[in-house]
Formats: sequence, C-alpha cells, structure tokens
Amino acid sequence: MATTTLLILNGPNLNLLGTREPGVYGSNTLDDVEKLCASAAGAHGWAVDCRQSNHEGELVTAIQEAAGTADGIVINAAAYTHTSVALRDAISAVGLPTVEVHISNVHRREEFRHHSYLSAVVDAVIVGAGVDGYRLAIDHLVRKLTRHDLMQGGYEGR
Ligand code: DQA
Repeated sequence: MATTTLLILNGPNLNLLGTREPGVYGSNTLDDVEKLCASAAGAHGWAVDCRQSNHEGELVTAIQEAAGTADGIVINAAAYTHTSVALRDAISAVGLPTVEVHISNVHRREEFRHHSYLSAVVDAVIVGAGVDGYRLAIDHLVRKLTRHDLMQGGYEGR
C-alpha cells in the first residue's frame, strides 16, 4: 500500500519565515517548518509533500493535484486566506480532509485578517499556536484519518 501522504501548502511570503516580522511569526524558517512537518508525519509512518508558492494559481494547482497524490492537506494560505475564492473552491472541489493553519493569532490582528474564505470549507482551523500549529494540524489529520471512532458524533456537526 502507498504511504499516506499529506500536502503541506504554504502561501505568499512564508518563504521569508525567520526574517519576516519575527515579532509576529517567530524565528523559525520555512525549512524548519517543513522539517517539523516531516518529523510529525514520520512519527506515524506518513510522508509529507511540502510546497510553497507566492502565486495564487500555483496554490490552486497544488490543491487540485493533491486529489491524486495526497490523503490530506495542511494549508497556510497566508494573505490569500483573506481574499481567495479560488482557493476555497479548490479545497471544496478536491474534498480532502484539510486543516487551515495560521502561525499568528489573526483574530488579535487587523480586522481584515479576521475573515477567512477557507474556514467554512476545512475540517479544522488552528490559529496563534506558532509553527507548532502545523504539528497540531498533522496530529488532527492522523486522528481523523485513522480513528474515525474518535470523531463520530463529536464536533463535526455543522
Ligand atoms: C498568516 C496570517 C495572514 O494574515 C498573513 O497574511 C500571513 C501569515 C499566519 O500564518 O499567521 O502571511 O497566515
């Protein structure tokens, strides 16, 4: 059987992690984040496919491609979170279990960061936990994909 794989998708300016507004986003680099994800998934024998793009269309394509190559998605769409109907539609179209992550607590920040086009179509949202949010997202997907019994009748109701 193929190894269970998660797409870890990071959006614009997250390639600058480590030097970008460290007071907001901390000192870890994108490379650190991707290693953290590989280690969190690897602990369960899972693999990660880590991608980052500054271009909305490339992020849409990565989500579409995940339909054939990944079992779940962890996405930090960065600024496109607050603007992109296209990313929302791509997530809905592929229908994979998806967790939205934000390193900073967007709700403590400017008003325009309070709304996410993605939140209504993902399984869970993790904000403000720093880069540890990626590990929490992976742990959630592991539980969701392997322990359906834990989730039934729980907080999945809409
Ligand atoms: C972010 C929050 C967004 O508002 C911002 O545009 C980002 C990063 C976060 O991880 O905290 O680029 O998604």
